[in-house]
Amino acid sequence: MTSTARTAAPPPPVPAELLPRTVAVAMDGNGRWARARGLSRSEGHRAGAERLPELARAALEIGVRRLVVYGFSTENWRRSPQEVAALMRLSEQALGAQRERLHAMGVRVRWSGRPGRLWRGVVRELRATEELTRDNDRLTLDLCVNYGGQAELVDAMAAIARQAGAGVLRPEAVDEELLGRHLYQADGADVELFLRPSGEHRTSNFLLWQLAHAELVFLDVLWPDFERRHLWEAVRIYAERRRRREGVVPDLSSLPRSSTS
Ligand code: IPE
Ligand code: IPE
Ligand code: MG
Repeated sequence: MTSTARTAAPPPPVPAELLPRTVAVAMDGNGRWARARGLSRSEGHRAGAERLPELARAALEIGVRRLVVYGFSTENWRRSPQEVAALMRLSEQALGAQRERLHAMGVRVRWSGRPGRLWRGVVRELRATEELTRDNDRLTLDLCVNYGGQAELVDAMAAIARQAGAGVLRPEAVDEELLGRHLYQADGADVELFLRPSGEHRTSNFLLWQLAHAELVFLDVLWPDFERRHLWEAVRIYAERRRRREGVVPDLSSLPRSSTS
């Protein structure tokens, strides 16, 4: 890994009741990072892929229980064939190289997305990673690969329509809870914190349903420069906003072990 002298600073103490349980991260800015260094876009993607274990470590250290990360969108097929090929190759390699490390950290990896045009090798590595890590429970890492928020809703609605058409589901039974159960991860409806690095202020078709109540945090760092402290900063901002929003939870300066909620 390329990580050099990273700070050994511990995470900021955020009271457990102010921690987001689920954090979504759009891993953006690889191309700009590479351009600023005179490197190819694939070099940027390689550097970006290496940040994933660091993100998982940051989540584990501060106590976030689930990460949802955007690795390749349904729109990313519109990039040049060379870049798409590089992204496929790199995804395959990175999964193979990182699988054991994530497993050793107690991370359970799940894939969300459509098989569709994905390279077979990528699907194979995703499945192998899911299989190896399926019993881990310290952190769930949902990898969104060939993922689109609109595609996910279409897939959910199509499944519901099929059941209604077959007469096993009454249309009146369709509600928010039922739709949530038909998403790629049936237990994954609520995202509390959405984090996008790279300075862009867009969702780019990530988790349209799941972000309904999320706090949105945008950081200027480009993804290949992402360090643990960036996740922690986003969590701190989230906790501040929650404290303001709810008004009744303890001040952050009164720190941990508070049982007030
Ligand atoms: C994110 O970096 C990686 C993917 C979307 C696959 P980008 O490639 O979007 O980098 P920028 O936004 O052009 O800098
Ligand atoms: C979003 O980033 C997709 C991923 C991070 C995988 P993009 O860079 O593809 O999004 P746009 O094109 O800027 O909206
Ligand atoms: Mg981008």
